[in-house]
Amino acid sequence: MRLLETTLCGARMPNPLVLASGIWGLTGGNLVRAAKEGAGAVTSKSCSLQARPGYGTPALLEWDNAMLNSMGLSNPGVDAMLDELRFAIRNAGVPLLASAFGNSYDDFARMCERLATVKPALIEIDISSPNHKPGVKTDKPFACVPADAAKVTEVSKNSCGRIPLCVKLSPNVSDITEIAKAVEEAGADAICAINSVKAMAIDVEARRPVLANKVGGLTGPAIFPIALRAVYEIRRTVEVPIIGTGGVTTGKDAVAMMMAGANAVGVGSAIAFRDKPFVRIAEEMGIFMRENGYRKVSELKLEE
Ligand SMILES: Cc1cc2nc3c(=O)[nH]c(=O)nc-3n(C[C@H](O)[C@H](O)[C@H](O)COP(=O)(O)O)c2cc1C
Repeated sequence: MRLLETTLCGARMPNPLVLASGIWGLTGGNLVRAAKEGAGAVTSKSCSLQARPGYGTPALLEWDNAMLNSMGLSNPGVDAMLDELRFAIRNAGVPLLASAFGNSYDDFARMCERLATVKPALIEIDISSPNHKPGVKTDKPFACVPADAAKVTEVSKNSCGRIPLCVKLSPNVSDITEIAKAVEEAGADAICAINSVKAMAIDVEARRPVLANKVGGLTGPAIFPIALRAVYEIRRTVEVPIIGTGGVTTGKDAVAMMMAGANAVGVGSAIAFRDKPFVRIAEEMGIFMRENGYRKVSELKLEE
Protein backbone atom coordinates (compact mmCIF):
# COMPACT_ATOMS: atom_id res chain seq x y z
CA MET A 1 0.00 0.00 0.00
CA ARG A 2 2.35 2.76 -1.31
CA LEU A 3 -0.12 5.48 -0.43
CA LEU A 4 0.68 5.04 3.26
CA GLU A 5 4.48 4.84 3.06
CA THR A 6 6.38 7.29 5.19
CA THR A 7 9.66 7.82 7.04
CA LEU A 8 10.47 8.57 10.64
CA CYS A 9 13.93 10.01 11.37
CA GLY A 10 15.14 8.39 8.16
CA ALA A 11 13.58 4.97 8.85
CA ARG A 12 11.22 3.80 6.09
CA MET A 13 7.81 2.59 7.18
CA PRO A 14 5.23 0.84 4.97
CA ASN A 15 2.53 2.76 6.86
CA PRO A 16 2.54 5.34 9.69
CA LEU A 17 1.24 2.97 12.40
CA VAL A 18 3.66 2.27 15.26
CA LEU A 19 3.06 -0.42 17.87
CA ALA A 20 3.12 1.58 21.15
CA SER A 21 5.47 0.57 23.96
CA GLY A 22 4.18 -1.92 26.51
CA ILE A 23 1.74 -3.59 24.13
CA TRP A 24 3.01 -7.00 22.92
CA GLY A 25 6.53 -5.55 23.09
CA LEU A 26 8.14 -7.74 25.73
CA THR A 27 9.33 -10.46 23.37
CA GLY A 28 10.92 -10.46 19.95
CA GLY A 29 8.25 -12.93 18.79
CA ASN A 30 5.42 -10.56 19.67
CA LEU A 31 7.16 -7.58 18.06
CA VAL A 32 7.45 -9.64 14.87
CA ARG A 33 3.79 -10.62 15.19
CA ALA A 34 2.74 -6.95 15.32
CA ALA A 35 4.77 -6.28 12.17
CA LYS A 36 3.24 -9.29 10.39
CA GLU A 37 -0.21 -8.01 11.40
CA GLY A 38 0.42 -4.68 9.71
CA ALA A 39 2.34 -2.37 12.06
CA GLY A 40 4.57 0.02 10.10
CA ALA A 41 7.09 0.12 12.99
CA VAL A 42 7.22 -1.51 16.43
CA THR A 43 8.25 -0.25 19.86
CA SER A 44 9.55 -2.64 22.50
CA LYS A 45 8.33 -2.67 26.11
CA SER A 46 10.34 -0.15 28.14
CA CYS A 47 13.18 -1.84 29.96
CA SER A 48 15.56 -0.83 32.71
CA LEU A 49 19.11 -1.72 33.79
CA GLN A 50 17.82 -4.27 36.31
CA ALA A 51 14.72 -6.46 36.10
CA ARG A 52 11.61 -5.01 37.74
CA PRO A 53 8.70 -7.12 39.00
CA GLY A 54 6.16 -4.30 38.61
CA TYR A 55 3.24 -3.67 40.96
CA GLY A 56 0.79 -6.11 42.54
CA THR A 57 -2.51 -7.22 41.03
CA PRO A 58 -5.12 -6.18 40.05
CA ALA A 59 -2.92 -4.12 37.72
CA LEU A 60 -5.09 -3.95 34.60
CA LEU A 61 -8.77 -3.36 34.10
CA GLU A 62 -10.82 -2.95 31.00
CA TRP A 63 -14.23 -1.42 30.55
CA ASP A 64 -16.41 0.33 27.96
CA ASN A 65 -13.92 2.40 26.02
CA ALA A 66 -10.78 2.51 28.10
CA MET A 67 -8.19 0.50 29.98
CA LEU A 68 -6.65 1.37 33.32
CA ASN A 69 -3.30 -0.11 34.26
CA SER A 70 -0.63 0.08 36.91
CA MET A 71 1.70 -2.57 35.53
CA GLY A 72 4.60 -0.68 37.08
CA LEU A 73 7.01 -1.10 34.14
CA SER A 74 7.64 -4.78 34.84
CA ASN A 75 10.45 -6.02 32.59
CA PRO A 76 13.24 -8.61 32.64
CA GLY A 77 16.06 -6.02 32.50
CA VAL A 78 18.13 -4.82 29.58
CA ASP A 79 20.41 -7.89 29.31
CA ALA A 80 17.46 -10.17 28.63
CA MET A 81 15.76 -7.61 26.38
CA LEU A 82 18.75 -7.19 24.06
CA ASP A 83 18.28 -10.74 22.72
CA GLU A 84 14.58 -10.05 22.09
CA LEU A 85 15.44 -6.82 20.30
CA ARG A 86 18.06 -8.51 18.10
CA PHE A 87 15.48 -11.14 17.12
CA ALA A 88 12.91 -8.45 16.27
CA ILE A 89 15.40 -6.39 14.26
CA ARG A 90 16.35 -9.48 12.22
CA ASN A 91 12.81 -10.67 11.61
CA ALA A 92 10.23 -7.87 11.82
CA GLY A 93 10.98 -6.25 8.46
CA VAL A 94 9.91 -2.84 9.84
CA PRO A 95 11.82 -0.31 11.99
CA LEU A 96 12.21 -1.07 15.68
CA LEU A 97 12.05 1.60 18.38
CA ALA A 98 13.83 0.34 21.51
CA SER A 99 12.32 1.81 24.66
CA ALA A 100 14.19 2.51 27.90
CA PHE A 101 13.52 4.02 31.29
CA GLY A 102 15.61 4.59 34.39
CA ASN A 103 15.65 5.95 37.92
CA SER A 104 18.34 8.56 37.35
CA TYR A 105 20.06 10.53 34.58
CA ASP A 106 22.94 8.09 34.75
CA ASP A 107 20.56 5.13 34.33
CA PHE A 108 19.17 6.69 31.15
CA ALA A 109 22.66 7.29 29.78
CA ARG A 110 23.69 3.69 30.46
CA MET A 111 20.44 2.33 29.01
CA CYS A 112 20.85 4.31 25.79
CA GLU A 113 24.44 3.07 25.42
CA ARG A 114 23.30 -0.54 25.83
CA LEU A 115 20.34 -0.22 23.45
CA ALA A 116 22.44 1.52 20.80
CA THR A 117 24.61 -1.62 20.54
CA VAL A 118 21.82 -3.52 18.75
CA LYS A 119 21.24 -0.61 16.32
CA PRO A 120 17.50 -0.03 16.56
CA ALA A 121 15.96 2.51 14.15
CA LEU A 122 15.30 4.81 17.13
CA ILE A 123 15.74 4.75 20.89
CA GLU A 124 12.66 5.94 22.76
CA ILE A 125 12.98 7.09 26.37
CA ASP A 126 9.97 6.69 28.61
CA ILE A 127 10.19 9.63 30.99
CA SER A 128 6.44 9.83 31.45
CA SER A 129 4.84 6.67 32.84
CA PRO A 130 2.46 7.95 35.53
CA ASN A 131 3.36 5.13 37.92
CA HIS A 132 7.08 5.66 37.82
CA LYS A 133 8.63 8.28 40.06
CA PRO A 134 12.37 8.36 39.50
CA GLY A 135 14.59 9.31 42.39
CA VAL A 136 15.02 12.96 41.48
CA LYS A 137 14.46 15.98 43.67
CA THR A 138 10.92 16.70 42.55
CA ASP A 139 9.67 13.10 42.93
CA LYS A 140 7.72 13.60 39.68
CA PRO A 141 8.29 11.86 36.34
CA PHE A 142 11.02 13.66 34.35
CA ALA A 143 8.41 14.58 31.74
CA CYS A 144 6.53 16.71 34.26
CA VAL A 145 9.33 19.24 34.94
CA PRO A 146 10.85 21.10 31.94
CA ALA A 147 14.41 21.24 33.38
CA ASP A 148 14.38 17.52 34.27
CA ALA A 149 12.96 16.61 30.84
CA ALA A 150 15.70 18.64 29.16
CA LYS A 151 18.50 17.13 31.25
CA VAL A 152 17.40 13.53 30.75
CA THR A 153 17.09 14.20 27.00
CA GLU A 154 20.58 15.69 26.86
CA VAL A 155 22.30 12.84 28.71
CA SER A 156 20.38 10.26 26.68
CA LYS A 157 21.18 11.93 23.38
CA ASN A 158 24.88 11.97 24.28
CA SER A 159 24.72 8.19 24.81
CA CYS A 160 22.77 7.17 21.70
CA GLY A 161 25.65 7.54 19.23
CA ARG A 162 24.10 7.82 15.76
CA ILE A 163 20.73 6.38 16.75
CA PRO A 164 17.97 9.03 16.73
CA LEU A 165 16.34 9.70 20.10
CA CYS A 166 12.57 9.88 20.63
CA VAL A 167 11.29 11.29 23.94
CA LYS A 168 7.90 10.18 25.22
CA LEU A 169 5.86 12.90 26.89
CA SER A 170 3.19 12.91 29.56
CA PRO A 171 -0.31 14.39 29.30
CA ASN A 172 -0.26 14.90 33.08
CA VAL A 173 1.12 18.45 32.90
CA SER A 174 -0.46 21.89 32.71
CA ASP A 175 1.40 22.86 29.50
CA ILE A 176 2.80 20.09 27.30
CA THR A 177 4.32 22.61 24.87
CA GLU A 178 6.83 23.77 27.53
CA ILE A 179 8.09 20.21 27.88
CA ALA A 180 8.13 19.62 24.11
CA LYS A 181 10.20 22.75 23.58
CA ALA A 182 12.59 21.80 26.39
CA VAL A 183 13.27 18.32 24.96
CA GLU A 184 13.65 19.59 21.37
CA GLU A 185 16.18 22.20 22.51
CA ALA A 186 18.02 19.50 24.49
CA GLY A 187 18.49 17.41 21.34
CA ALA A 188 15.44 15.14 20.92
CA ASP A 189 15.10 13.92 17.31
CA ALA A 190 11.43 12.98 17.75
CA ILE A 191 8.64 13.16 20.30
CA CYS A 192 6.08 10.51 21.17
CA ALA A 193 2.91 11.90 22.75
CA ILE A 194 1.14 10.84 24.84
CA ASN A 195 1.76 8.31 27.58
CA SER A 196 -1.23 7.22 29.69
CA VAL A 197 -3.43 9.67 31.59
CA LYS A 198 -3.19 9.43 35.38
CA ALA A 199 -6.47 7.96 36.66
CA MET A 200 -8.11 5.63 39.16
CA ALA A 201 -11.18 3.47 39.78
CA ILE A 202 -12.94 2.77 43.08
CA ASP A 203 -14.96 -0.35 43.83
CA VAL A 204 -17.79 1.22 45.81
CA GLU A 205 -19.08 -2.07 47.24
CA ALA A 206 -15.63 -3.04 48.51
CA ARG A 207 -15.00 0.61 49.40
CA ARG A 208 -11.47 0.61 48.07
CA PRO A 209 -9.49 1.44 44.94
CA VAL A 210 -9.62 -1.30 42.31
CA LEU A 211 -5.95 -1.22 41.34
CA ALA A 212 -3.53 -2.64 43.89
CA ASN A 213 -1.37 0.44 43.26
CA LYS A 214 -4.49 2.64 43.75
CA VAL A 215 -3.72 4.93 40.80
CA GLY A 216 -2.70 4.02 37.28
CA GLY A 217 -2.79 5.17 33.67
CA LEU A 218 -5.86 5.43 31.45
CA THR A 219 -5.48 4.41 27.79
CA GLY A 220 -7.71 3.47 24.86
CA PRO A 221 -10.45 5.32 22.93
CA ALA A 222 -11.48 7.47 25.93
CA ILE A 223 -8.18 9.38 25.83
CA PHE A 224 -8.13 10.02 22.08
CA PRO A 225 -9.31 13.68 22.28
CA ILE A 226 -6.67 14.39 24.95
CA ALA A 227 -3.92 12.92 22.78
CA LEU A 228 -5.17 14.74 19.70
CA ARG A 229 -5.11 18.09 21.51
CA ALA A 230 -1.61 17.38 22.86
CA VAL A 231 -0.27 16.58 19.37
CA TYR A 232 -1.97 19.66 17.90
CA GLU A 233 -0.35 21.90 20.52
CA ILE A 234 3.08 20.27 20.25
CA ARG A 235 3.07 20.57 16.43
CA ARG A 236 2.63 24.31 16.79
CA THR A 237 5.67 24.52 19.07
CA VAL A 238 8.37 22.19 17.68
CA GLU A 239 9.72 21.02 14.33
CA VAL A 240 10.77 17.45 15.18
CA PRO A 241 8.59 14.52 14.06
CA ILE A 242 5.80 13.48 16.42
CA ILE A 243 4.44 9.97 16.99
CA GLY A 244 0.82 10.80 17.90
CA THR A 245 -0.28 8.15 20.39
CA GLY A 246 -3.36 7.68 22.56
CA GLY A 247 -6.70 6.07 21.87
CA VAL A 248 -6.25 5.55 18.14
CA THR A 249 -8.63 2.76 17.16
CA THR A 250 -9.91 3.54 13.65
CA GLY A 251 -8.54 4.80 10.36
CA LYS A 252 -10.27 8.12 10.91
CA ASP A 253 -8.58 8.48 14.32
CA ALA A 254 -5.22 7.93 12.61
CA VAL A 255 -6.09 10.45 9.89
CA ALA A 256 -7.12 13.01 12.53
CA MET A 257 -3.79 12.46 14.36
CA MET A 258 -1.92 13.23 11.15
CA MET A 259 -4.12 16.24 10.48
CA ALA A 260 -3.22 17.50 13.98
CA GLY A 261 0.44 17.28 12.96
CA ALA A 262 1.66 13.77 13.77
CA ASN A 263 4.22 12.19 11.41
CA ALA A 264 3.41 8.67 12.63
CA VAL A 265 0.62 7.24 14.76
CA GLY A 266 1.04 5.05 17.84
CA VAL A 267 -1.43 2.21 18.36
CA GLY A 268 -1.61 0.42 21.71
CA SER A 269 -4.84 -0.39 23.52
CA ALA A 270 -6.68 -0.83 20.21
CA ILE A 271 -5.53 -4.46 20.35
CA ALA A 272 -8.10 -4.94 23.13
CA PHE A 273 -10.90 -3.28 21.18
CA ARG A 274 -10.49 -4.66 17.64
CA ASP A 275 -9.22 -7.78 15.98
CA LYS A 276 -6.11 -7.15 13.82
CA PRO A 277 -6.14 -3.38 14.47
CA PHE A 278 -3.05 -2.50 12.42
CA VAL A 279 -4.17 -3.96 9.14
CA ARG A 280 -7.68 -2.61 9.59
CA ILE A 281 -6.65 0.90 10.61
CA ALA A 282 -4.24 1.01 7.65
CA GLU A 283 -6.98 -0.18 5.28
CA GLU A 284 -9.41 2.43 6.59
CA MET A 285 -6.78 5.17 6.25
CA GLY A 286 -6.17 4.13 2.66
CA ILE A 287 -9.88 4.17 1.83
CA PHE A 288 -10.31 7.62 3.38
CA MET A 289 -7.30 9.00 1.53
CA ARG A 290 -8.37 7.62 -1.86
CA GLU A 291 -11.95 8.82 -1.44
CA ASN A 292 -10.74 12.29 -0.51
CA GLY A 293 -7.99 12.66 -3.09
CA TYR A 294 -4.91 12.49 -0.84
CA ARG A 295 -1.83 11.02 -2.55
CA LYS A 296 0.51 10.74 0.44
CA VAL A 297 0.19 10.88 4.20
CA SER A 298 2.12 14.14 4.51
CA GLU A 299 -0.76 15.84 2.64
CA LEU A 300 -3.07 15.13 5.58
CA LYS A 301 -1.65 17.88 7.82
CA LEU A 302 -4.16 20.68 8.43
CA GLU A 303 -3.67 23.89 6.45
CA GLU A 304 -3.01 26.82 8.78
C1 LIG B 1 -0.55 -2.34 29.62
C2 LIG B 1 0.20 -1.13 29.16
C3 LIG B 1 1.58 -1.06 29.35
C4 LIG B 1 2.30 0.06 28.90
N1 LIG B 1 3.64 0.08 29.09
C5 LIG B 1 4.37 1.14 28.63
C6 LIG B 1 5.79 1.16 28.73
O1 LIG B 1 6.42 0.22 29.19
N2 LIG B 1 6.44 2.26 28.26
C7 LIG B 1 5.80 3.33 27.70
O2 LIG B 1 6.45 4.29 27.27
N3 LIG B 1 4.45 3.32 27.57
C8 LIG B 1 3.73 2.26 28.02
N4 LIG B 1 2.37 2.25 27.87
C9 LIG B 1 1.70 3.42 27.25
C10 LIG B 1 1.45 3.19 25.76
O3 LIG B 1 2.66 3.02 25.05
C11 LIG B 1 0.65 4.36 25.15
O4 LIG B 1 1.39 5.56 25.28
C12 LIG B 1 -0.69 4.54 25.83
O5 LIG B 1 -1.26 3.27 26.08
C13 LIG B 1 -1.66 5.37 24.99
O6 LIG B 1 -1.92 4.75 23.75
P1 LIG B 1 -3.20 3.79 23.50
O7 LIG B 1 -4.41 4.52 23.99
O8 LIG B 1 -3.19 3.53 22.03
O9 LIG B 1 -2.95 2.54 24.30
C14 LIG B 1 1.62 1.13 28.28
C15 LIG B 1 0.24 1.06 28.09
C16 LIG B 1 -0.47 -0.05 28.51
C17 LIG B 1 -1.96 -0.12 28.27
